[in-house]
Amino acid sequence: MIAVPMLPEELDTGSEELTLAETFRQMLPPGAGVGVCRITRDDNDGLRPLERQSIVATAAQRRADFAAGRRAARTALTACNFAPADIPIRADRSPAWPDGVVGSISHSAHIAVAVCYSNAVIDAIGIDIEPSRNVTAELESMILVEVELAALRSLPSAERETAATTLFSLKESYYKFQASCTNRWLEFKDVSVRPGTLPGDFIIQEFSAPSFKPPLGAAIARARHAAGFIATVVYAPTTVRSPCSTLNRTVVQL
Ligand SMILES: CC(C)(COP(=O)(O)OP(=O)(O)OC[C@H]1O[C@@H](n2cnc3c(N)ncnc32)[C@H](O)[C@@H]1OP(=O)(O)O)[C@@H](O)C(=O)NCCC(=O)NCCS
Repeated sequence: MIAVPMLPEELDTGSEELTLAETFRQMLPPGAGVGVCRITRDDNDGLRPLERQSIVATAAQRRADFAAGRRAARTALTACNFAPADIPIRADRSPAWPDGVVGSISHSAHIAVAVCYSNAVIDAIGIDIEPSRNVTAELESMILVEVELAALRSLPSAERETAATTLFSLKESYYKFQASCTNRWLEFKDVSVRPGTLPGDFIIQEFSAPSFKPPLGAAIARARHAAGFIATVVYAPTTVRSPCSTLNRTVVQL
């Protein structure tokens, strides 16, 4: 049986936004641009022209989530020494970062987070935030494989929800990470997560494509507690040539 996820001690900077931003920076190698924004319903939402076109016919809450994600993304771009730019939506719903940039966005509850890098440093990245106890026992069997479920069954129920949420969030981050290189759809049970050597480090195994070659094979996966959320990252440093740049991807209007 695999051990259950153990995460390091939580940071506390006194502010939700700063705690999340610092937690992401600590999980990642140098060079990260990190942005954290509150989700607000505001007409002056900071969206740029191409982004506005991307969400013409969407509900107010979705628009607020999207706009906060884009504000966080522009903070991340600036922190990474890139000019703030339009980040429209691609056909696969991933964000279309400017040339030379790789990044990822997540929103949950009232907070949006974005992380970006120069593609000279990182080949691909996926991030996710989830409220700490977002995966109940009823959901577990839909998203976890038997070896993960067996590990969770040994936990008291209070710890179990947070552990299940950690596994779920790592799978969401992995999905975003790999999709940005491959355009593949993956089911939750196509992937299994087990703890790595250090607390908060994880190893992700893909059942659907066991022969998949690095950089995806070399993915680094991390999780932390942060301000009531589980925060996760999956990334691959630029150590081998990435297939990401070869994808022909289009921006769409939804
Ligand atoms: C795409 C998905 C992962 C998004 O996760 P979520 O928890 O619903 O929402 P989050 O707020 O964390 O992430 C949403 C952001 O993900 C990004 N995203 C969406 N599709 C993406 C894709 N194909 N590749 C990379 N990023 C993507 C977008 O930036 C989006 O925000 P935006 O629309 O405002 O730009 C999720 O909706 C999904 O489809 N999951 C099913 C597939 C999966 O996770 N499988 C797991 C097995 S590995």
